[in-house]
Amino acid sequence: MRKSACVLMSTDLDFQALFEALPNVLLVVAADDDFTMLAASEGRIRATNVSREASIGRPLFDVFGKNPNDDADFGVEVLRASLQRVLKTKASDRMAVTKYDIPRPEADGGGFEERYWSPLNTPVFNEHGEVRYIIHQVEDVTEQIQEQQEVYAELRASDERLRAALLASGTGTFHWSLRDSHFYVDNALSRLLNIHEGHTVATLEQFLAYIHPEDCERVRQAFAECGKGIDLRVEFRLKQVGLDETWLSARGKVLLDPQDQPSHMVGACTDISARKHAEIELHESERSLRSLNETLEARIEQEVTERSRTEEALRQSQKMEAVGQLTGGIAHDFNNLLAGIIGSLEFIQNRLATGRNEGLSRYTEAAMLSANRAASLTQRLLAFSRRQTLDPKPIEPNRLVVDMEDMIRRSVGPAVKMEAKLAERLPRTLCDPNQLENALLNIAINARDAMPDGGRLTFTTALALPQELAACGLTSDGDGFINISITDTGTGMTPEALTRAFEPFYTTKPLGQGTGLGLSMVYGFVQQSGGHACIQSELGRGTTVCLYLPIYTREVKPEKMPEVPSPRPVASQEQTILVVDDESVVRMLIVDMLSELGYRTVESDDGVSGLALLETMPDVDLLITDVGLPGGMNGRQFADLARQHKPGLNVLFVTGYAENDVVSGCSLEPGMQVLTKPFSMSDLALRIESLLKR
Ligand SMILES: Nc1ncnc2c1ncn2[C@@H]1O[C@H](COP(=O)(O)OP(=O)(O)OP(=O)(O)O)[C@@H](O)[C@H]1O
Ligand SMILES: [Mg+2]
Repeated sequence: MRKSACVLMSTDLDFQALFEALPNVLLVVAADDDFTMLAASEGRIRATNVSREASIGRPLFDVFGKNPNDDADFGVEVLRASLQRVLKTKASDRMAVTKYDIPRPEADGGGFEERYWSPLNTPVFNEHGEVRYIIHQVEDVTEQIQEQQEVYAELRASDERLRAALLASGTGTFHWSLRDSHFYVDNALSRLLNIHEGHTVATLEQFLAYIHPEDCERVRQAFAECGKGIDLRVEFRLKQVGLDETWLSARGKVLLDPQDQPSHMVGACTDISARKHAEIELHESERSLRSLNETLEARIEQEVTERSRTEEALRQSQKMEAVGQLTGGIAHDFNNLLAGIIGSLEFIQNRLATGRNEGLSRYTEAAMLSANRAASLTQRLLAFSRRQTLDPKPIEPNRLVVDMEDMIRRSVGPAVKMEAKLAERLPRTLCDPNQLENALLNIAINARDAMPDGGRLTFTTALALPQELAACGLTSDGDGFINISITDTGTGMTPEALTRAFEPFYTTKPLGQGTGLGLSMVYGFVQQSGGHACIQSELGRGTTVCLYLPIYTREVKPEKMPEVPSPRPVASQEQTILVVDDESVVRMLIVDMLSELGYRTVESDDGVSGLALLETMPDVDLLITDVGLPGGMNGRQFADLARQHKPGLNVLFVTGYAENDVVSGCSLEPGMQVLTKPFSMSDLALRIESLLKR
């Protein structure tokens, strides 16, 4: 071991050569004022590009002088200071990375090459402990530095890009320390807040001072929540006098300390005024749209009300027109008839006054004729007003049509061909057969009038189809309807005639030929029977009148035919009749008729006195009473009370028209009958007899 050490020691090692061959960048300088270069390693020679001959023995700063292109002249001075520090402190001195450009060989274009060095100056001492040499060891960190610089440059560029983006998006950033409330706003945010020169924002409170008073508390709350680690998310307005309302949206992320406690917040505020204003505008326009909608509805409603008012007014005026026409028609016809009656009666009066009794029957007949025509006129009016006294019976429509064929054929004449299309197994309907015949005859006569040169008249019976019923507004909650329709190939109707044909007194026929009551009567009768009448007509093509009548499915009891009494039955003198009617003329006539017929009579003008009479006269056999009575008690109520007093009392109601609720067929008890005014003495005799015979 020792030997080998000796061998090593005794080896003639050329330290100079070894040092100079080292690839590291090493330079030995003397500890003199010039820092004379004493030795340089191969690495140093390569790195500095300065030959050993050109450097060794020469002052360091003569050889590695100032780079004339480097204004900072920073490397040389820093190196000199470090070397001087080594001399002074006798300790190694690590220099900061130093830019120290080195000359480039002329062959490579000369000039200086930018280089960065990380130098370490280490003292070498003599036996007295004095600094003899300084080893200047340098690491070339140019590449790392350049890489770093590139990274920095990139960072700077991206930072600038971020700033530009923030600026463009109206975004400013802030940083808030939750511990000391220090609040930092960047320039962009300062601009957004419109912070004037000389003012600063350094605390949260100072920041809040820029927020609209109405939003401030909400924002303060949102920041307070950050203390619980909740990220910030709040929108608010700025307090800006005289400026347009500015809206900011603040977003912040809470950063935690190593103990997981919220310590900082970094965040950004973005100008969202444009969006907010658009939202507000949208909201406004939605609101006004909504209110427009609301008012639109109200306006439509108003329009509709206005319209229905106008329609109602029109309907009312049309109704008044129809009523006017009706009253005018009645007055005209009645005046004619009254002229006949009054004129005849005057003649009779005059003749009687002068004792000329012969030939009076001429006038009584004339008066009777007019009166009967007046009666038939009122009958037709009552039919239209649906107040005629009907005697409904279940009837087979086909049978009725077939039975009428002859009569109709005679009425329409030979120029009109008749045919019947009758549905098989047609159900029955319930209505007054006489009135139905009357209606069909009226329609047939109209058809004849519409076909002066002849044509075809078709009677059709069928089950009514649902769509037909719907078209007439009929709902079938019962068993449905049958349809009897009469079609002609005549002139057809004008649109006006079509809409007005059912109106009473509407006629297009020459004066004296038509009263205009035919169809109105048909209409009223069908309605009163629970059905509906309608007309289809086309000018020049013909007309169809449809009568829809309700189907009747109940069992039919065989009808007991009343025995035909003799026209003038003779009454038994024992039978007493109480006559109650407030019309004294009518009462007188009835009483006189009854006396003529041989009955005993008592009379009264209302129900109350009638009842009083009944109490004193227990032997009354029959009560004849008007339905409409004065004194708060109608004929029906009077009859019911009379029957309580005298059970089973026969009652004959006499009435101007069918007061349905009071004396409708179904509400009449046995021993009660109705007779419609006007009536003849024989009508009255027949009814009395049938009642008293019970
Ligand atoms: N089949 C039809 N063809 C063409 N027009 C008709 C037909 N039926 C009725 N009209 C028109 O309807 C009007 C009214 O008829 P409606 O039967 O009520 O009265 P009228 O026949 O004129 O008189 P009235 O029947 O009282 O004698 C007729 O005047 C006529 O203009
Ligand atoms: Mg007619």
